[in-house]
Amino acid sequence: MVEVLVTGGAGFIGSNFVHSALARHPDWRVTTLDKLTYCGRRENLHDVMDHPRHTFVHGDIGDGSVSGPLVERAEVVVHFAAETHVDRSILAAGEFIRTDVEGTFVLLEAARRAPRLRRFVQISTDEVYGSVPEGASRETDELKPRNPYAASKAGADRLAYSYWATHKVPVIITRASNNYGPYQFPEKVIPLFVTNAIDGRPVPLYGDGRNVRDWLHVEDHCAALDLLIEKGVNGEVYNIGGGNEVMNVDLTHRILACLGKPASLIEPVPDRPGHDRRYCLDTAKLRALGWMPRVPFERGLRDTVEWYRRNEWWWRPIKEQDAAFKSYYQAQYGR
Ligand code: NAD
Ligand code: TYD
Repeated sequence: MVEVLVTGGAGFIGSNFVHSALARHPDWRVTTLDKLTYCGRRENLHDVMDHPRHTFVHGDIGDGSVSGPLVERAEVVVHFAAETHVDRSILAAGEFIRTDVEGTFVLLEAARRAPRLRRFVQISTDEVYGSVPEGASRETDELKPRNPYAASKAGADRLAYSYWATHKVPVIITRASNNYGPYQFPEKVIPLFVTNAIDGRPVPLYGDGRNVRDWLHVEDHCAALDLLIEKGVNGEVYNIGGGNEVMNVDLTHRILACLGKPASLIEPVPDRPGHDRRYCLDTAKLRALGWMPRVPFERGLRDTVEWYRRNEWWWRPIKEQDAAFKSYYQAQYGR
């Protein structure tokens, strides 16, 4: 059996990855290590908690006494665990430095001692390139992160690389564009707008709404990671982009149209400070290995909206009963 450690496996992408890993790889034994922060949820893994090839460990990647032994016995580490929300990093950046940078450092130190490790996948992000007014970011481009989340991810990205260059830890680094799909915490734009609109509440569109994101369905992301675990070259960086560049205002209209809700729900609100205008990835390097995105954006968005419509059990308690979420919402949008 192949021992696979997934950090942050109770989050959005991590939980989708755990599900797809167990389904696609009968020879993998998967351990999820997750701190269960506000956005890490047991519910995301409810149907695999008792799976014979899955073990869930509740713990902090930054606590070497917990994460160290798990890394040391792994053959593959897929490191998703992070603080991930740009707006929260603007309100308070400390946890981003502690988890995204220092937590990654703790894992990498353990990886130096891991006798059977053959892959350490550092999940980075397209945000490390900063705003891209035109063209598409290539893996060799300069990193110009512009918000504390992106900067902490850039720190971890380069730290992971340094452990390859210096200590030959078998690191590959992936930089994905904005993901969408089921189990995304309802603070990110798609689940926030979908769930607000279901309730007939305003959807707060930042600035002029003309910022562009390149949307990647989480299933396509998981397929790319699978391929890279198998065929990636250690020490290399791979962009993973969906090829779906959409302006926020267009995205918002599409969401409202899926739900049959009026455009009058759009509420222009003050812009995010330092709001990156556009991200766009050149994915030629990954495509050369045989990957391409399979989920067309129209269908992926429709299915995602439908998932939130059918799974109110999952998001309603967060939005209506979770005091921490309510106080975040008030701090962010209460102005
Ligand atoms: P998420 O916020 O939904 O999940 C993060 C998970 O990490 C949660 O389960 C949380 O409990 C866990 N976690 C946080 N701190 C931890 C700690 N100290 N120890 C152990 N677990 C901890 O995030 P996501 O959207 O699933 O993103 C996963 C990864 O992918 C992140 O590294 C993120 O930077 C990267 N990424 C995300 C996107 C996107 O669009 N969502 C795009 C590119 C890259
Ligand atoms: P988000 O989902 O936070 O992802 P990221 O900032 O990592 O790209 O935001 C996606 C886009 O949507 C981004 O341009 C900011 C915008 N946005 C809004 O207009 N309103 C909102 O309430 C949120 C959360 C995001």
